[in-house]
Amino acid sequence: MSRTRVAVLISGRGSNMAALIEAAKRADYPAEIALVVSNVPDAGGLATASAAGIATTTVDHRAFGKDRAAFERALQDVLVQHRIELVCLAGFMRLLTPWFVAQWPQRMLNIHPALLPSFKGLDTHRRALEAGVKLHGATVHFVVPEMDSGPIVAQGAVPVHDQDTEAALAARVLAVEHRIYPLALRLVAEGRVSVAGNRCRIAKAAAPHTALIVPLD
Ligand code: GRF
Repeated sequence: MSRTRVAVLISGRGSNMAALIEAAKRADYPAEIALVVSNVPDAGGLATASAAGIATTTVDHRAFGKDRAAFERALQDVLVQHRIELVCLAGFMRLLTPWFVAQWPQRMLNIHPALLPSFKGLDTHRRALEAGVKLHGATVHFVVPEMDSGPIVAQGAVPVHDQDTEAALAARVLAVEHRIYPLALRLVAEGRVSVAGNRCRIAKAAAPHTALIVPLD
């Protein structure tokens, strides 16, 4: 079985990237992390990827000034050179133009630290606490030109506790991110995800019948 060649795009510490690398170590995982690309030269995740023996490269957006198109062409060139078939955004902090998104139709995933479509954008945990939600979580979705939108492949929910700080909530969500990203990538790489409108159908997948209710009585 040939494994899907995946590039992970990062800007920072790369803990989701590390979770994908870890999952892909299994011989039966249908994707291999063939490349890690950072737009930030000193992103912590680059060292983690190198230590795992994975090819890394930096495409520094600052070198392109305001020329977003040139930055993205350079990014695309690198992906093509490495024969990448699927892109995973993992804490990649650049907005992508419709041109770049169009190069990867249903071939680019993103992870967002909230239950979309709630809390698009930044500071999701602070905003979730301010909004008083009892359930929060994370989402893996296909990338479309509109930010933090696109068909949802997988979500994981966590309870919000009364005593939660932003950091405590972030840590709880991050643990779920590290589970749902490898899951979503596996499902996509196995060809089990089909998109109809805004919905993803997952072939041969069960969903739990239990509800997550907060608070407990
Ligand atoms: C994660 O919370 C991810 O959901 C968001 O940015 C953060 C990146 O963390 N898009 P890491 O670099 O994967 O540790």
